[in-house]
Amino acid sequence: MTVRRINPQDPNLSASTGFREAVAAILDGGLVAAPTETVYGLAADATNPQACTGIYTAKGRPRFNPLISHVSDAAAAREYGLFDERANFLADAFWPGPLTLVVPRRPGSAVCDLATAGLDSIALRVPDSPIMQRLSREAGRPLAAPSANRSGGISPTTAEAVNEDLGERVDVILDAGPTRIGVESTIVALIDDEARLLRPGGLAREDIEKVLGRPLAGPPGDSAAKPAGPGMLKSHYAPRAIVRLEALDIAPGKAYLGFGPIPDQIARDAVAVRTLSEKSNLEEAAANLFSDLRALDATGAASIAVAPVPKTGLGEAINDRLSRAAAERMGPGVRSE
Ligand code: TXA
Ligand code: MG
Repeated sequence: MTVRRINPQDPNLSASTGFREAVAAILDGGLVAAPTETVYGLAADATNPQACTGIYTAKGRPRFNPLISHVSDAAAAREYGLFDERANFLADAFWPGPLTLVVPRRPGSAVCDLATAGLDSIALRVPDSPIMQRLSREAGRPLAAPSANRSGGISPTTAEAVNEDLGERVDVILDAGPTRIGVESTIVALIDDEARLLRPGGLAREDIEKVLGRPLAGPPGDSAAKPAGPGMLKSHYAPRAIVRLEALDIAPGKAYLGFGPIPDQIARDAVAVRTLSEKSNLEEAAANLFSDLRALDATGAASIAVAPVPKTGLGEAINDRLSRAAAERMGPGVRSE
């Protein structure tokens, strides 16, 4: 495994050693960890079943959980998915950016069945990150890329976090520093009459609803027994420590994740403290969420108490990830995926 520092603003990005190695690894069926604006992704050639198998194996991810295909622009996305008027509208408004569209799969498209887990729909995204975007363009392939962490764990927002989780399982890690948004893309499904929010994420629901001119519906048949997507399983993004939400105080010896200034009692009694945003800013909180959870987990504290976070805007995604981090696991050390 090779780690390469890479500067997304470099005018000669495509000629840099790290970038060339990454393109070669993709064309060779290998695995490349690369930043997007949301989190680091674990990318492989979405048209190559062996390469996609490599993703599932490296992550320990169940093969019924489909992958997002990352492409360089909307025209490339239309080669793999069928876009109706709503899809075109959302793609025009928000791509490149933290929005993933689930649309009917184009019959005969080159994306392999493993990438879509055999579904007749496909998740497509044009990331607003020159690295992942150019990687797809120069390799001439759609890139299947889940978050670059072990399945069920906390998504990585730095190359160090990728290295800790996956290390030698990856061929090349491109390190461009911490990601800007910090939570994964918002996923919207456009496969029936309703536009459905499958996963809140880095693009706020309110922004999408404004463009659509109507509210987003929920996932189809949403229930604990039949999750809309395996990534929507209850326990996910889980640290080792137990997570308690909406905490306004804390028992001595626990770790604390705040939102806004830290109350005196907590500053005194907690073994470790972080605040998602001193100024109670939701964008800043999203950007810090996964790295703060990792840092508090690394202190070895048995439990992490988390302050209430507002539920609007990016707060919807933050609360979604926190509630999955807090959800009951299936047994000691066992995650539901
Ligand atoms: O920001 C992101 O979206 C990051 C970066 C790397 O792009 N990627 C990411 O991928 O979060 P992943 O695999 O961790 O989450 C993708 C989610 C999964 O929950 C999967 O079940 C869902 O997308 N998904 C993929 N294809 C789908 C489909 N056809 N129908 C419904 N859900 C789908
Ligand atoms: Mg993930």
